[in-house]
This record gives sequence, C-alpha cells and structure tokens, in this order.
Amino acid sequence: MLILDGKIASAAVKASLLQKTKALQAAGKRTPHLAAILVGNNGASETYVASKVKNCDETGFGSSLIRFNDDVTEADLLAKIKALNEDKNIDGILVQLPLPKHINDEIIIESIHPDKDVDGFHPTNIGRMVQGMDTFIPATPYGVLLMLEYYKIETKGKHVVVIGRSNIVGRPMSILLSGDRPQGNAYVTLCHRYTPKEETVKMAQQADILLVAVGIPEFVTAEMIKPGAVVIDVGITRVEDATAKKGFRIKGDVNYEEAITKAAAVTPVPGGVGLMTIAGLLMNTMKAYEAN
Ligand code: GUN
Repeated sequence: MLILDGKIASAAVKASLLQKTKALQAAGKRTPHLAAILVGNNGASETYVASKVKNCDETGFGSSLIRFNDDVTEADLLAKIKALNEDKNIDGILVQLPLPKHINDEIIIESIHPDKDVDGFHPTNIGRMVQGMDTFIPATPYGVLLMLEYYKIETKGKHVVVIGRSNIVGRPMSILLSGDRPQGNAYVTLCHRYTPKEETVKMAQQADILLVAVGIPEFVTAEMIKPGAVVIDVGITRVEDATAKKGFRIKGDVNYEEAITKAAAVTPVPGGVGLMTIAGLLMNTMKAYEAN
C-alpha cells in the first residue's frame, strides 16, 4: 500500500518554484505576488488562507492578505478587486470561499480579471478548461493532477469514479480526467447526491481510481473500494472532538483505516490533497506572473 503523501509531492512542486523565484531575485526582478481576500473569521477559512500566505513566503512569492468584516458590502469588495485587477504588481487574486450570504459569489468571482484568477473559478477559465485550452486549472483539481503526476499514476484507459459534483472539485475533476491530456484520457463516472446510494456503491466498486469530494466524513468504506484501487480523498471536515487539543479533528470523506486494507494507494487526510491545493495555487500564481 502506497500513501500518496501531499507533504512530499507538494514539497517537490514548491522546490521547483523556489528555484525559479531565486533566479528572479538573483536577476534583480520582482517575484510573483498573490493577493488573498478573506471576509469574516470562519475558522477553516482563516486556517486555509494563513497556510496559503505561509506557502507564498516559503516559495519566495510576495503575498498580501486583505481582510474584511463579514458585514462588508458587495460594492466595497468589488472596488477592492477592481484596484487589484489594475495593480501591475499583483499577479494573482483569490477570494476565499464561502462568502457571507448577502454577497453573491458569482458576481465576485466574475469581477476578478481572468488573467489573475489563480483559483481558476472565473467562467472564462472554466470554459477554457472544458475545451482543453491553456488556462488556470482550479487549484484543488490541479493539485490532484500534480499528485497523480508525482506518483506516476496512470489514468489513460482507467475507470475513474468521481463522487461529488461541486463546481470547485468534482465537476472539474471529471472534465480534466476525461480530457485528452497528461493525467487524462480516463473514462469517468460522476456520482452525486441524486445517484441512488446503492448505484454509487456499485460504481465505486468498479473504480480503478476513486475520487471522493462530498464533505461527508468517512462516506467511503471498505466495501466500496475495488482491491488495488487508487483512492483520492478530497474531503476535509472538522468534526467536534472534546479529547482533541483544538476541540475538533479533521476527517476525510474516506475511512482511511478501512481503505488501506484494500486500496493500492490512498491519500491521507490531513496531509494529502489539501497540501496539493496550495501547490496548484502557487503554480497558477507563477503562471500568472509569467504572463503578466
Ligand atoms: N474554499 C474552499 N476551497 C477553496 C479554494 O480552493 N479556493 C478558495 N478561494 N476558496 C475555497
């Protein structure tokens, strides 16, 4: 059984990016710069954004963390994004989701210039991705592709079952893995909340690669895993636990202890895909810089 270690795979990506930023610094040039917008103080979002900023530091990238209270108006957010769009020294912009209910995510995402949309959420970039054109791939799907590449996991001709159809993970993953590209050319089944559970189980049992992004802790049990499958767990849920130091534990969508008894390879949670999301984001930020 192989553990698909996000720490190792993301360190490799970061090392190659650090080499690039060192060369830029040696040549007296500025390095890539990411602007991250955080609204409110959702605990998980705080952690993710702090980690993104820290990883920028470690890779020689500049970063700006821009905070707003959760009563910020949509107009104020849009004005800030407009200023960042126009700022030549900012290469990438991300707005951490979820946003408060009174703010329309779609309007905010569409206001980010597609050339600075390092999360790859802008409809222009999603459209380019669907057509197999060069673009920013959404950070988590990109991270999964980088993980598959690092561990040399063959996808061509394989049956991939994706569980979950979110705009930021499941749906783009199904498109990317079925596309004509490296880490692609798989045939893909996409299961979601309206797939009868017994069908999801049946499909999962036939998956060479099972990718789960539903946000339900330990949704995937041993019976759903084909012996020798590759299992990719994109779930990260905080589950209350009074015995844990922080009062919660992080749980994936896969029962890890069960998965390792059947799978050939599994991503742990934490320490798997989460770290690769940041690697994907950094890669996109370097790409934005190079085009800027
Ligand atoms: N919230 C959960 N995942 C993500 C992500 O990849 N990017 C942003 N901006 N927000 C998120």
